[in-house]
Amino acid sequence: QSAGDPAILELPPWSKMLGKPVAANPYGMPSMYEKNLVRRESPGLTRVSGSSVAFTPLQGLFGIITPSGLHFERHHQGWVDVDPNKHRLMINGLVKTNAVFTMDDIMRLPSVSRIHFIECGANTGMEWGNVAVPTVQYSHGMLSCSEFTGVPLKAILDMCGADYKKGRFILAEGADGSSMTRTIPMEMVESGEVLVAYGMNGEMLRPENGYPLRLVVPGVQGVSWVKWLRRIEVGDKPWATKDEAVHYIDLMPDGLHRQYSSIQECKSVITTPSGGQLLLDKGFYNVSGLAWSGRGKITRVDVSTDGGVNWRTARLETPVLSKALTRFNIDWVWDGKPAILQSRAVDETGYVQPSYGQLRAVRGTKSIYHNNAIQSWKVVESGEVSNVQVL
Ligand code: MTE
Repeated sequence: QSAGDPAILELPPWSKMLGKPVAANPYGMPSMYEKNLVRRESPGLTRVSGSSVAFTPLQGLFGIITPSGLHFERHHQGWVDVDPNKHRLMINGLVKTNAVFTMDDIMRLPSVSRIHFIECGANTGMEWGNVAVPTVQYSHGMLSCSEFTGVPLKAILDMCGADYKKGRFILAEGADGSSMTRTIPMEMVESGEVLVAYGMNGEMLRPENGYPLRLVVPGVQGVSWVKWLRRIEVGDKPWATKDEAVHYIDLMPDGLHRQYSSIQECKSVITTPSGGQLLLDKGFYNVSGLAWSGRGKITRVDVSTDGGVNWRTARLETPVLSKALTRFNIDWVWDGKPAILQSRAVDETGYVQPSYGQLRAVRGTKSIYHNNAIQSWKVVESGEVSNVQVL
């Protein structure tokens, strides 16, 4: 360093040349130096890539909004780029007037924009029994948060004269080859929270996320957020379709399955430092993470650096929104000794995120869905961070 740092002493080439013209990239792309921050498929997780998951790289994101190009993907039968001119939404069942809407019809209606998280019910599902994956991208990356724009489904059902007395459920159906179908209780629709959405983060939905129309069901597991939405039926009982009778059910320790357990309970995770990262030296670190609850707002996040013996309350960064990701941060001075980092979130109902021991006492270890246990990241003296489980 005695000769001085050439990066500051010498003018770099980009300070002495003409830069690229405007609109060289008509649709902007990230810097070429950020090309490692991408959605990733977990090798061997599914037999074919058409029916698979690509995980959001939570370890490299800031704030609470997921860039649209990094929103996780979960398709049962591949994704399709549907022609909006040929797309229709049909409303039928217990309604006065069956109706078919074009995209133009829907986009003329009064719209709302709301920020919500979407989490696949299977997020962290590989970790029920044991540590299974190395990074937060694979352990928690079936999670994204966006601003969605669309029309409250209630307004559309009102237009069709839905029978809210008898019609206590709706069925949502997708236009893709999987014929994704999910039952949703009418109370959720009546609350005004369920949206028929076409916008995501200020632009039209991306094809992978259901362009041109998807259902937004705040607080509920991702599978109910039916993509390429083509039909809503109003009915008087749950349909028990293949996607709710055989899939997305929770195997309990007594051998019975729990059905329609669709709310995503309060959960949090430290995204940095996290598994696969390396702390270069002892000293100051900003421990940062995300917390969310399908039942409302996050009220507190506590962080431990000694595997749950002592806890300190983290700063919640604004905005703190209902059924949206909340960013938390806390200062930490690493003394270079082994440490175990954990976060524990509390939501506005008073529910406290459980430890693995507490969760397994109720749910056993044979489930796939709705694992919201406290995540532990172990730091060793070399600075390497890895995924561990603490009961
Ligand atoms: N809708 C349709 N039509 N087809 C699908 O395969 N996958 C569901 C849901 N909606 C799916 C669907 C599942 S399991 C999840 S977790 C979310 O969409 C994922 O949404 P994303 O791909 O936008 O992240």
